[in-house]
Amino acid sequence: MNYAATSPRTSPAVTEGLVCHLRQSMNLSAGRNFEGLDDGAIALRARRVLAHLFNVSAPERVIFTSGITASMNMVLNGLLKEGDHVLASGVEHNAVARPLEALRRKGVIEADYLPCGADGVISTQGLSRAFLPNTRLMVLTHASNVLGSVQPVRECFAIAKEHGAFTVLDSAQTAGVFPLSMDGVTDVLAFTGHKGLRGLAGIGGFALSEGMSERMAPWISGGTGSASQSLEQPDFLPDKFEPGTPNTLGILSLALSAEEILSIGVGSIRAREAALTAKFICLCRSIPGLRIHGTADASRSAAIVSVDSPGADVGVMAARLYYEHGVITRSGLHCSPLAHKTAGTFPHGTLRFSFGADTTEDELLYAAEALKKIL
Ligand SMILES: Cc1ncc(COP(=O)(O)O)c(C=O)c1O
Repeated sequence: MNYAATSPRTSPAVTEGLVCHLRQSMNLSAGRNFEGLDDGAIALRARRVLAHLFNVSAPERVIFTSGITASMNMVLNGLLKEGDHVLASGVEHNAVARPLEALRRKGVIEADYLPCGADGVISTQGLSRAFLPNTRLMVLTHASNVLGSVQPVRECFAIAKEHGAFTVLDSAQTAGVFPLSMDGVTDVLAFTGHKGLRGLAGIGGFALSEGMSERMAPWISGGTGSASQSLEQPDFLPDKFEPGTPNTLGILSLALSAEEILSIGVGSIRAREAALTAKFICLCRSIPGLRIHGTADASRSAAIVSVDSPGADVGVMAARLYYEHGVITRSGLHCSPLAHKTAGTFPHGTLRFSFGADTTEDELLYAAEALKKIL
């Protein structure tokens, strides 16, 4: 019940593919590995499938990094200039808030966090007033990793566009489990491999809308195996933003898992997760003394349910759930103090349950029963 942190495992088919790649790539002289593909061909296969999944019209606009933390640092530092103003939500993860705060403390930018309701959702009413003449960027997490609440991203980003601001989406809790279309919605979509995309940890990236690459400076530079006669970073994609030796095993895990997700259908994964979330919220409501945070509407929530109980320590609750009942959850602030300030659960935090499409109803019943016993 801790899928929002890292998905518990790659599927047997993905694991099989990765093992096969490792065996074949040990024969270095062959220069070929998984299914006879070299590193470049594996990366192209992954770019193509992710471009399909996120509706990006050109695969080279899908860039690989180690995850959203690296992507956000590259995008924010590559895009923002002195004097820029940035808007983010009041439920951002530290992967967004810390790089923004670092830029703010250096005196490069100003940043404002948009107030959200206690359910973690930004109100679009009056949102226009938050834009200043120098607002250059709006960055939003698609779904809060603490509260599950899904932001009205289309509406918020449409307003940002009216004000001439760039838009960046953190899809950590939604990529692979929510239908996501990048083109026409956001300028940058940052993704991570180790949650809903069901790949390995340490791989992720960002996708850029058309023309966005020209507006962003490479924040990291180095060898790309291309244009090596020059001391300057290449300006073509994907090399502009992918210096250094690639994490081919991670990239392959994304290619294989995203292919699997497409064959299952993101719509059916989402429907299953929404049904599980609705069921678990309902079970939690019947537990005396338990408070549920975030939106009570599962159709507007990722598969995350955060709870606490007055007078009970969430760390102790998590430990007892694990040691006495074998239920894995996560307690505390979940790297998002902003979300807890919004929900009124700072600094004690919450106990967070999170599911995947393969979670069973019996597991939900068991977890709810265990929670009831502990309380
Ligand atoms: C909403 C959100 N953003 C960003 C991140 C960081 O992602 P990564 O692990 O890929 O750096 C997480 C992961 O916990 C997250 O939940």
